Amino acid sequence: MASTVSRKPPNRRNLPPADLSHWQRDCQALPIEMLRRSLLQWYSAQGRTLPWRGETDPYRVWVSEIMLQQTQVKTVIPYYHRWLAAFPTVADLAQADRQQVLKLWEGLGYYARCRHLHQAAQIIVTEYGGQFPTTLEDVLTLPGIGRTTAGGILSAIANQPLAILDGNVKRVLARLTALPVPPARALGPLWELSSQLIDPNHGRDFNQAIMDLGATVCLPKQPLCLLCPWRSPCLAHTQNLQTQLPMREATAPLPHKNIGVAVIQNDQGQVLIDRRKEEGLLGGLWEFPGGKLEGDETVQACIQREIREELGIEIEVGDHLITLDHAYTHFRITLNVHYCRHLRGTPQPLESQEVRWVALDALRDYPFPKANGKIIDALLGGDR
Ligand code: ADE
Repeated sequence: MASTVSRKPPNRRNLPPADLSHWQRDCQALPIEMLRRSLLQWYSAQGRTLPWRGETDPYRVWVSEIMLQQTQVKTVIPYYHRWLAAFPTVADLAQADRQQVLKLWEGLGYYARCRHLHQAAQIIVTEYGGQFPTTLEDVLTLPGIGRTTAGGILSAIANQPLAILDGNVKRVLARLTALPVPPARALGPLWELSSQLIDPNHGRDFNQAIMDLGATVCLPKQPLCLLCPWRSPCLAHTQNLQTQLPMREATAPLPHKNIGVAVIQNDQGQVLIDRRKEEGLLGGLWEFPGGKLEGDETVQACIQREIREELGIEIEVGDHLITLDHAYTHFRITLNVHYCRHLRGTPQPLESQEVRWVALDALRDYPFPKANGKIIDALLGGDR
């Protein structure tokens, strides 16, 4: 399925500049000291207890921050514990086999995070003597680390007052200041605001607190304003605009792709899987081969063509196994999965890194994307 899940997100950098001069003037009048004090007070009473809170080992904090990019806390916690049990130190991670690393990430999504974590561990061992760098400049050179993640890590491990601007913080700040444009159109000014607000003496707690406020009180749909320490200075609240802010861009429906997928079996009962190229959304993971339906092609014809093009073999397409829908951030897919029988030819990795015949009971040893995991469940639950 080489080319079906590699679409890049829309580029938001080309948006026209917004006139934020009034908003910026209003921001100058924010009661900064009072905002810091009330947030920190609230955090000491209401902050969440999380496994990485209070952690000063940079490696552990870094792993948590990477896992928390685009993923909720409750999903991350079991992965975090399993990861540290398997790779207790940066040296353990650096030495680990890529497949083992991906297997532990399986199901967490956004697999580039995992590849970058592994690469960065190798850089830390070879270039920094195994010590996580401590300057913003050095940290930002590591793969997979942007300004928010760097600020999150350095504030947590060394109390550095470095601002962050993740989705929760954007929402909190957009409401606090009644930002008159969608946050994506005001990233520079929002970074400035986040940097002005952070408490210079309490970088660690301030960042953790504002993330908690966004995750537990300043909720996207139904904010719990009565519980908010920033209720009185919040412009969204005073103007009763909290459910309308942040403003959103008009969005088009997600594009949809219809995919034919083959579970190809040989006479020994093994099935054929391939490993995706290293780059792209699901890079390095294994999958059942297949591809996108073209024109008014039937699923069966699509599977036959894709398998010829991707693997250079002939198959017979048999019964339907399962149909699955899956949503990625920027598109949806439907996987139409059929049992297939290998007829002729030796499979070659024409559009992948590697192909392999695998016994059914060994399939779970390989890292697969989530939707392919459901195919394995159907296959092992089936009667063939
Ligand atoms: N999201 C990103 N970093 C986080 C942290 N340290 N705690 C909770 N949620 C987060």
